[in-house]
Amino acid sequence: MPLGQDLVATEAAGAVKGTEAATPVIRLVGVEKALGGQPVLKGVNLEIPRGKVTTVIGKSGGGKSVLLKHMIGLLRPDRGQVLVDGTDITRLSAHDLNEVRKKFAMLFQGAALFDSLTVLENVAFPLREKTKLKAAEVDHKVLEMLEAVGLTGMGHKFPAELSGGMRKRAGLARALVMGPEIILFDEPTTGLDPLLARTIHDLILETQRRFGFTAVMVSHEIPEIFGISDYVAMLLDGVIAEMAPPEQFQRTRHPGVREFINVGTRPEVVSSGAGRETRGL
Ligand SMILES: Nc1ncnc2c1ncn2[C@@H]1O[C@H](COP(=O)(O)OP(=O)(O)O)[C@@H](O)[C@H]1O
Ligand SMILES: [Mg+2]
Repeated sequence: MPLGQDLVATEAAGAVKGTEAATPVIRLVGVEKALGGQPVLKGVNLEIPRGKVTTVIGKSGGGKSVLLKHMIGLLRPDRGQVLVDGTDITRLSAHDLNEVRKKFAMLFQGAALFDSLTVLENVAFPLREKTKLKAAEVDHKVLEMLEAVGLTGMGHKFPAELSGGMRKRAGLARALVMGPEIILFDEPTTGLDPLLARTIHDLILETQRRFGFTAVMVSHEIPEIFGISDYVAMLLDGVIAEMAPPEQFQRTRHPGVREFINVGTRPEVVSSGAGRETRGL
């Protein structure tokens, strides 16, 4: 894309890496946050490319969830800026922040379904609460989302009747149903066996490619995430130590990042970044 195509692109072009001169959908600038008297984020600079899957990795307790919560304004930084489509959300009123949040969906560790509602009612819930769609339109959308996550015909079940993997699918359907621009995934495969974890990863990638939302995922699944991410970022000692496409990321010279990914990397799947083609996505 030629620089200066529009004002926004011009403004952000200098900060965008690579050839896709799209503006980053989320931008953290010098974000600092202390919690419980301890510094957690120590000057995070991070740009989330639009319409891509960006995965944040890092040590347990290192501040990954805290980072995600800053992106959606659940936490405010002590210092620094969080820009969503160019708007600094750290300065917004509660009302304006709510407007910005409509761009987001979140999928946190537990799928957080309502136990007393069926899958269908769970997925329909945001539509019934937040839109004026007619019942038939709601049904249509819900069925479309259930199909997208592989839960066709399961709408009448209650969460307790579902396996862990199916609950994750239902959570994803509910996240998708409002057509969010951005979905934040906090360790979406926690509690699943490796095979199911892979299925859910593939489903996230498949739905991302289908619907085009921006995915920001926190994950401890190394090396699996290299196969489904467009970009990988590592949070280390309160800052982003490295961010790059998976292949490049795995060749990092940063000693702390190398140590972290080598510990978690099983030799037989190191080059899984090339696996995408084989999945037909
Ligand atoms: N609301 C909170 N109050 C106090 N400390 C918190 C709070 N949330 C997170 N922390 C602390 O911040 C650090 C980072 O937590 P978290 O972002 O959950 O780590 P991660 O998701 O990388 O495992 C941890 O030391 C955690 O105890
Ligand atoms: Mg966490």
